[in-house]
Amino acid sequence: MYDILFKNGMAVTPAGIVQADIGITGGKITAIGKLEENAAEEIDCTGLHILPGVIDTQVHFREPGNTHKEDLNTGTLAALAGGVTGVFEMPNTNPLTTTADALQDKLDRAAGRAWCNYAFFVGGTGENAENLPVLERLPGCCGIKVFMGSSTGNLLTEDDETLERILANGTRRVAVHAEDESRLKERAALVAGSGDVKLHPHWRDVETALKATQRLLKLAHKTGRPIHVLHVTTAEEMELLAANKDIATVEVTPQHLTLFAPDCYERLGTLAQMNPPIREERHRAALWTALQNGVPDLIGSDHAPHTREEKARPYPESPSGMPGVQTLVPLMLNHVNAGRLTLERFVDMVCHNPQRIYGIKGKGRLETGYDGDLTIVDMKAERVITNAWGKSKCGWTPFDGMEVTGWPVMTVLNGVIAMRDDEISGVPSGKAIAFTEK
Ligand code: DOR
Repeated sequence: MYDILFKNGMAVTPAGIVQADIGITGGKITAIGKLEENAAEEIDCTGLHILPGVIDTQVHFREPGNTHKEDLNTGTLAALAGGVTGVFEMPNTNPLTTTADALQDKLDRAAGRAWCNYAFFVGGTGENAENLPVLERLPGCCGIKVFMGSSTGNLLTEDDETLERILANGTRRVAVHAEDESRLKERAALVAGSGDVKLHPHWRDVETALKATQRLLKLAHKTGRPIHVLHVTTAEEMELLAANKDIATVEVTPQHLTLFAPDCYERLGTLAQMNPPIREERHRAALWTALQNGVPDLIGSDHAPHTREEKARPYPESPSGMPGVQTLVPLMLNHVNAGRLTLERFVDMVCHNPQRIYGIKGKGRLETGYDGDLTIVDMKAERVITNAWGKSKCGWTPFDGMEVTGWPVMTVLNGVIAMRDDEISGVPSGKAIAFTEK
């Protein structure tokens, strides 16, 4: 007898896509296959695909410090509405998440208020470098994050000496925002007072990203520390990273795979401003080629909400970042339907690989014994992404009005249906994600 039985769906398992029923008991997957036993609740999934719960490994939820933009309650609600069951949240909050107390504060705030499962990055800095081996192992911590170039917030490691100290302390893979701060400073005058957001990829140019990634790779090899390069945006970095997969894993975002310059800036103005920037079509094409060649390992949304009022400031005073946690699944399913990647490859990048790369315990696979987190999608549903559908506090999405084929129709968290047909049910029941000791 199962608590809940998902019947007749197409399950995306590590062995491929198979027609299978999924039985969940006590919050865990207890059986996959042709299942005849009784269940307290039976859900017909005919025509639907059942994915392991999607994990978004890069979000900014702004709590504490900037909860007028987002908080742990609204950010996780947006995740759930978009078919995301787990998030890794970034440390550039205020105060920064750079101490055990600040991490504990986030865990306390999330308990009972988070709609999906969660873990938090600790920021690596010159001040806490020697303490990172302890911090990276604390419960609820998914790893260490470093900003090599300034973006939103005050987290910054600009010099090689400090970066090397951070990399030399600890063993878990370090996630890095790779933009070269000295080049950003040198070039800031190019955009100051311009009011022209189209200059954003010119200021934060290819060389800015490439130089940082080159410095990072050199130090990663020197220290033997595995790194994860977040939101890679250039053809040049993808080529370099393809040759360094021994030490580096790679993330791409749905925004960089979908939008391109100058079109995005002409249509969306500063709403399309993010770091590193959306670049010209040649880069978007190169990201897709790299994805098809197996270079990127993860897709993270870099959900980075700011209010419309903040975004309306004249560039470059306008803040960088756009929401994305709720649109990750629909956008990527639309790309699957357009033939740019397979559903299996998508599941690798948002379920299997997050589990493998970060050492997540009991999540990321449709396998017996794993947690009952599921993202159930209708690959044929034709829908329109709208601001009104969005749950983020910021109230807008750069994809407002976009027609997509493929939609998350159910989000199942720890064996309980928490979103069905765009309706949220129950109470916030997200839990801290646990990690293996690797
Ligand atoms: O555009 C961005 N916004 N890039 C980042 O690295 C940070 C983020 C934010 O927190 O707003």
